[in-house]
Amino acid sequence: MTSRSDMQGGIGSARIRKLRATEAEIFRAARPKSEASFGKGIAGFFGGVPMHWMNDWPTPFPIIVDRARGATILDIDGIRLDDFCLGDTGSMFGHSPPPVARAIRRQADRGLTYMLPDEDTLVIGRLLSDRFGLPEWQIATTATDANRFALRVARAVTGRPKILVFNGCYHGSVDETMVRLVDGRPVNRPGLAGEFRDLTQTTEIVEFNDLPALERALAGGNVACVITEPVLTNSCMVLPEPGFHAALRRMTRDAGTLLLIDETHTISTGPGGYTRRHGLKPDLFVLGKPVAGGVPASVWGMSADVARRYRAYNRAKEPGYSGMGTTLSANPLQFAAMRATLEEVMTEANYARMERLATRLEAGLAAAIANAGLPWHVARVGARVEFICAPGPLRNGREAEAAHAPALEAAVHVALVNRGVLIAPFHNMMLISPATTARQVDRLVAAFGAVAGALAA
Ligand SMILES: Cc1ncc(COP(=O)(O)O)c(C=O)c1O
Repeated sequence: MTSRSDMQGGIGSARIRKLRATEAEIFRAARPKSEASFGKGIAGFFGGVPMHWMNDWPTPFPIIVDRARGATILDIDGIRLDDFCLGDTGSMFGHSPPPVARAIRRQADRGLTYMLPDEDTLVIGRLLSDRFGLPEWQIATTATDANRFALRVARAVTGRPKILVFNGCYHGSVDETMVRLVDGRPVNRPGLAGEFRDLTQTTEIVEFNDLPALERALAGGNVACVITEPVLTNSCMVLPEPGFHAALRRMTRDAGTLLLIDETHTISTGPGGYTRRHGLKPDLFVLGKPVAGGVPASVWGMSADVARRYRAYNRAKEPGYSGMGTTLSANPLQFAAMRATLEEVMTEANYARMERLATRLEAGLAAAIANAGLPWHVARVGARVEFICAPGPLRNGREAEAAHAPALEAAVHVALVNRGVLIAPFHNMMLISPATTARQVDRLVAAFGAVAGALAA
C-alpha cells in the first residue's frame, strides 16, 4: 500500500520513479551524439557545464543546442523541440526576433562597447518613460544588478537600513533577498554558498497576501523598501488576492517605505507589464531578461520623487564614487537590441496574440488535468502559464513550497521532452512568445494529457 508521505501530487513514488527511469532511457537512446559529446561533463568546466544552472535540468544530461529560432530549439542530434521555456524568460519574445537580429547585425560593425551614449539612447529613455510611467531610468546588464542598484538608492534616499521581501520570492542573486520563513521564523535561505552574514538582520520577511503581517513589519519605521514581483512567479505561482496591491501601496506610503516592483517575469502580462495593466504605482521598477530580446540587459526606473531625492542625496554625499554600475552596462549592443525590442517586438499586437494562445494553453491543460482526475491546477499571468501539482489557488510562499513536487515534476519534464516539448526546469513554467503557434500549443496540451493520463492510470 502507498502511504500519503510516499506520494507527490497524488501519484505514488514508485510510479514516479518508474516514469523517470523509462523516460531517461528514451531521452538517452535518441541522443547518441549529445551523450558522447557531453561525456561525464564538458571538459574544462567546473561541474561539466559553463554555468551551474545547466545541471538543473531533469534530463540525464543537458540538451546540447545546435540552434534556436522563434519558439523552436534544434539539438545536435537533429531533434526539434517546441520551446516553452524560452531561456527562462530571456527569450520570452522568441529566439532571435527578426527586428532584434537585424539591429544586432547593424550594430556589429559600429562598435560593441564604448561607455558613451549613442543615438539610440536619445530614443530609449523616452520609450521607457512612456511605456512604464516612471520618468527617469538607468540601464544595467542583469535583473540582479538592477535590483541591487535600485535597493541601494532606496536605502540612500530613505536613510533606512532594511528591506522587506515576501516569503518564496526570487529577485536574482541579490544577497539580502535570500531569506526564507521556516516554520514561521526568518532564516538565511537554505543552501546559500559562502554567506557569512545573518541576512535576517537586513531583511524583514512576511508571507505574500498577508496584510496584517506586512503592516506589523513596516511599523518599526526602519524599512527602506519593499521589493516584490506583482505575482510570485518563482515558487509555484501565487496570484495576489483582490485588494492586495492597493493595500501594499497604501501601507508602504503611510510607512515612508518605497515600493520596488520587479517585472522581470510578469512582463508576460502586457507591453507595460503587470504594473500598467493593473495601474500599480511603484517608486522603483525593474525589468531584466527579455527587455533587449535576449541580449543581456536590464533597466531600472525611478519615480520623480525618488529621482529628486537621489539627486539631493548625491549633492550632499562625500565625493569618491559616482554611483553603482558595471563597465559593460549600457553598451551600444544593448541599446540597439533594446530599441528594436521596445519599438518592434513588445507591441500590443504581439501581446494580444501571446495572450490568446496562453488562454488556449491554460484551458487545454486544465481540461487534461480534469480528464486525468488529478488534484492539480493551472495558473496564468498573461503569456506565462504554469501547472501546479497540487490544488489551488495558492495564497503564499509557504503553500507554494508545499505544492512543489520535485520528483514528480522532473519525471513529467523529461516525458514532455520525449514528446517534443521543452518547459522551464525550475518550475512548471510555459511561456508563449509571438512566434509560438497554435499547433505548438496543441502539441503541448496533447503531450501533457498523455503524461498526466499515464500517471493517473
Ligand atoms: C523576478 C526576477 N527578478 C530578477 C531575476 C534575476 O535575473 P538575472 O538572473 O538575469 O539577474 C529573476 C531571475 O529569474 C527573476 O525571476
